[in-house]
Amino acid sequence: MTIAAPAPKANMGEPAPRLDARLKVTGEARYGADFPLNNPAYAFLVTSAIAKGRIRSLDLSQARAVPGVLEILTRENTTELKDIPFSPGGGGASTSIQKLGPEIAHDGQIIAMVLADSYEAAREAGYKVKVDYEVAPASASFDSPGVTQEDATKVSERHKEVPKAGDANAALASAEVVIDVEYETPTQHHNPIELFTTSCVWLDDQLTIYEPSQFVYGLKNAVAQRLGIAPDKVRVISSYVGGAFGSKGQMTPRTALVALAARKLNRPVKLVPTRAQGFRIATYRAETRHHIRLGAGKDGKLVGYMHEGWEVSSRPDPYVVAGVEDSAHIYPFGAVDTKVHIVHADRNTPGFMRSPPVVPYIYALESAMDEMAVKLGIDPVEFRRINDSMTDAMGKSYSSRSLMKCYDEAAAAFGWQRRDPRPGSMRDGDWLIGWGCASAVYPTHVGTATARVRLLANGEVRVQTAAHEIGNGAYTVIGQMAAERLGVPLSAVTVELGDTNLPPAPVAGGSNTTASTCNAVRKACDAIRGKLFHAATTANDGPLAGRTVDELTLTEGRAVANDGAQEKLEDAFKRLGASAIEEYAEFVPPGIKPEAIGQLYAGKGALTGGSHGEKLMYAMGAEFVELRIHALTREIRVPRIVGAFAAGHIMNTRTTRSQYMGGMIWGISSALHEATEIDRRRGRYINDNLADYLVPVNADIDQLEVILVPEEDRDVNPAGIKGLGELANVGTAAAIANAVYHATGRRIRKLPIRVDDLLAA
Ligand code: MOS
Repeated sequence: MTIAAPAPKANMGEPAPRLDARLKVTGEARYGADFPLNNPAYAFLVTSAIAKGRIRSLDLSQARAVPGVLEILTRENTTELKDIPFSPGGGGASTSIQKLGPEIAHDGQIIAMVLADSYEAAREAGYKVKVDYEVAPASASFDSPGVTQEDATKVSERHKEVPKAGDANAALASAEVVIDVEYETPTQHHNPIELFTTSCVWLDDQLTIYEPSQFVYGLKNAVAQRLGIAPDKVRVISSYVGGAFGSKGQMTPRTALVALAARKLNRPVKLVPTRAQGFRIATYRAETRHHIRLGAGKDGKLVGYMHEGWEVSSRPDPYVVAGVEDSAHIYPFGAVDTKVHIVHADRNTPGFMRSPPVVPYIYALESAMDEMAVKLGIDPVEFRRINDSMTDAMGKSYSSRSLMKCYDEAAAAFGWQRRDPRPGSMRDGDWLIGWGCASAVYPTHVGTATARVRLLANGEVRVQTAAHEIGNGAYTVIGQMAAERLGVPLSAVTVELGDTNLPPAPVAGGSNTTASTCNAVRKACDAIRGKLFHAATTANDGPLAGRTVDELTLTEGRAVANDGAQEKLEDAFKRLGASAIEEYAEFVPPGIKPEAIGQLYAGKGALTGGSHGEKLMYAMGAEFVELRIHALTREIRVPRIVGAFAAGHIMNTRTTRSQYMGGMIWGISSALHEATEIDRRRGRYINDNLADYLVPVNADIDQLEVILVPEEDRDVNPAGIKGLGELANVGTAAAIANAVYHATGRRIRKLPIRVDDLLAA
């Protein structure tokens, strides 16, 4: 892989190396299952081998006879656990299917947990639990007999309304050019490398949980509720998360079971589920279908957009992403009509997965945009330019929008002007070449967050906030914000995250972490500056006496006035008679009520942004891919991908580039590799391992170029930060599908696109 790395531009922070880089590469960073426990018992899950039916009986005799087995938890001896309501989003329960039977609602439902002196004994005993099932026919997915369908707006708390504007039917009926197309995306599983582990330790009535989590406060409060104990009896520690992508944002049924086991045994308990179990005991991205109608004038101006989506969920839970809440705002469509349906099947409840609302919906929209550009005979970049607007069809305006800047920079770097638009025209020997592009968009989410910052007279800084290091670089960017505001080097800053003993931060979801927590840290730092500056300026003597606070800044361990007068930090502290200043700050984004801070402590985060505020807030980008398809074997290669992205103030150009690279690679994955296969007769997942669940390897990725486009946005939040972690994998799949059309003249409207799709006549 070759990676171009141009110099940082304006409004971009330092490319500081990760504060945790050394710990990670030396194995010192402690993930959930790494924390040493004193004489732990080991747990192994027994999960259902059918997707629907009933347990007639469990025979535990052989399992109990395995040497080292301590206890087996089943529904009989876990009645103290309380079922808590399904609550999509941050915190709360990932599913309402929490009982260990006798009713079976999905493949792989937890039905028992074996506890033993060793992992091996627990596993052996787990396989010796004999289950007598009464099997019922399971509805696997779309089109399966027995699925039921409902309107998402009727059942989803978060989607009571979907975008509408004008009379889309009439607009489409009278449009000069219309397309009417359907798309489909597959089931996908996050497959974080770190498994869904949980370790629990009780000290008297105090429970400590070590579990990889995207929301430690959410987990703490939900587990307390499930155990029927006070939240202040629970501490959750999650210092590092080895990948999550949405799968660790909520409480899954395993956690309270492990806590209960540890209480019953009066001994620490560690659970490390298998990867196959991870496909069933956590969430995933459900398969979706889309029906899109687009209308435009011959001049390329869009006049109408209808987008109807279908998403699979479990039988009881109305999980839905309803990405029309974003897609309908991206271009000024004229008239808009959208609708989202939930299709209930006998499946585990899906949940957030990397760029949850937008990924499937923008794949569909950006594919349709390309189809329309072709039908109009307009270059796809120019087609977007014709429909680039600061205002959407519903009359809302963007806080900032850099879509065409991104297109122009990426197109220039890619060499788009050399493209011959005729399908199949750019051949190189036996290889058909396809060039395609698409927009990337991600809603800018910001949430309530709190932080505590301490500045010592010697210039050392400690930052505490219960945010989450999920591979995003949270330690580093949070440290950078404190270093910037307090005028100290990053090496002087210690950052503590991922622990409910720290002040709360929101769920690490919807790419809000940097914006939310950096604003809280900034506020705490400014309070510290305020105290120092006040002391320095109101003193009778000293170099800064009589200045105003606004004239001062902190830099290199000094308070400095505009005219250069300065005082050393140590002297300023002496004046205060203190050796440290500590400030706690609460950041509440505009549009969120102050009570939200109390709710955050209670494990309920509040996020705003995207299409939900007064202004439309989005990070945007443009991606260009070159695809090569072998004329005879139809082997598909992606030799080149270029993405340009704008996301407000960039805290760290290095971690940002990493996020964009990972995103684009994930986009290639979703376009060409990833899909969870389902046995349609039995409703069970088939390829539940990393050998059969395809993801790209190094050989699949060649040249990859990331361009950071400068952008200023004063509306999104005081620090001007837009989330970007989930931006770059949006649109990639459409860009690749559009390139497949350009290479072959064939539209494949179903992901992933594989060799067999291109071989079929
Ligand atoms: Mo991300 S799916 O919002 O963790």
